[in-house]
Amino acid sequence: MPTLPKMCLNGEIVAYEDCKIHAFSGAVKYGAGVFEGIRGYWNDKAEELYIFRLPEHLERLRFGMRVLRYDEIFSVEHMADCLLRMVRANSVRGNVHIRMIAYIDSDDELVGCGPIGLVCGAVPRTPSPKLETGVHIAISSYQRIADNALPPRVKCTANYVNNRAAELEGKRNGYDGVLILTNQGKVSEASGACFFMVKDGVLYTPDVTSDILESITRATVIELAAKDLGLKVVERSIDRSEVYGASEAFFCGTGWEVLPMISLDRLASRRPRSFLARPSRKLDHDRAHQSLFGQCRRRFARDHGCAGGSQ
Ligand SMILES: Cc1ncc(COP(=O)(O)O)c(C=O)c1O
Repeated sequence: MPTLPKMCLNGEIVAYEDCKIHAFSGAVKYGAGVFEGIRGYWNDKAEELYIFRLPEHLERLRFGMRVLRYDEIFSVEHMADCLLRMVRANSVRGNVHIRMIAYIDSDDELVGCGPIGLVCGAVPRTPSPKLETGVHIAISSYQRIADNALPPRVKCTANYVNNRAAELEGKRNGYDGVLILTNQGKVSEASGACFFMVKDGVLYTPDVTSDILESITRATVIELAAKDLGLKVVERSIDRSEVYGASEAFFCGTGWEVLPMISLDRLASRRPRSFLARPSRKLDHDRAHQSLFGQCRRRFARDHGCAGGSQ
């Protein structure tokens, strides 16, 4: 689906067609940008858009700006204001995926650190049918980028050349996606989501030193699984062959939501959906929106003195 017609570029609401940066900016030449994908869930009853964990997303963006040594680190308040004005300018009344990018705007040499540009826009999103059917996945022949090369916990645009190469390979070979291994041969993550598996009633996920993005959805799943479902959750390094023996597995992320994996390298999971129905219901259900998303919105409003709703 196309991006909604109004975007926010450096604090100004502009038409999609006019949202441009220079072809010789550091963002284009060197991939010097950090970004976030953020979900807005429209609630019909409340007639409000609940933006999922906005403060966490904006703090992660600030972390990325610091690591890339940007001259200017935008405040959470400023970025939230740009995002909310963009949402309002589009009169959003449906689920959206919001993209925000903070990038090197100057035509400078490699080490240019500013000025910094900030852009955001939104794309309407309907639920993927794969949330129901699940996905067939292959181990990628590409290794995950390592922390001491391009840190995956920084959501830098350049990192995604790795994810893109892996995903393209998987799709070319007839799979829905890929699971990428670290340079130590341990399970890392998918091209755009974190990985979980169930074995003997325990939920396992690669720990944060497995070259993953420290996913906000992953943290939510861990919290819900432990608190609401009473499951034991273990974060540790995971071998490829352990996944073959898992009873269930799934991916999670802002864009992918909670997505069942039904086979890895054409080896089917024994019980593809029984466990998964529970956390996904928690994440998708209207009541969960009211409580979880509502809580986030209220916390955001309290912390930052502004509304998390759209209208
Ligand atoms: C590589 C990668 N891993 C994991 C995730 C999930 O992170 P989050 O839940 O914060 O969206 C994403 C993005 O959505 C991603 O791009």
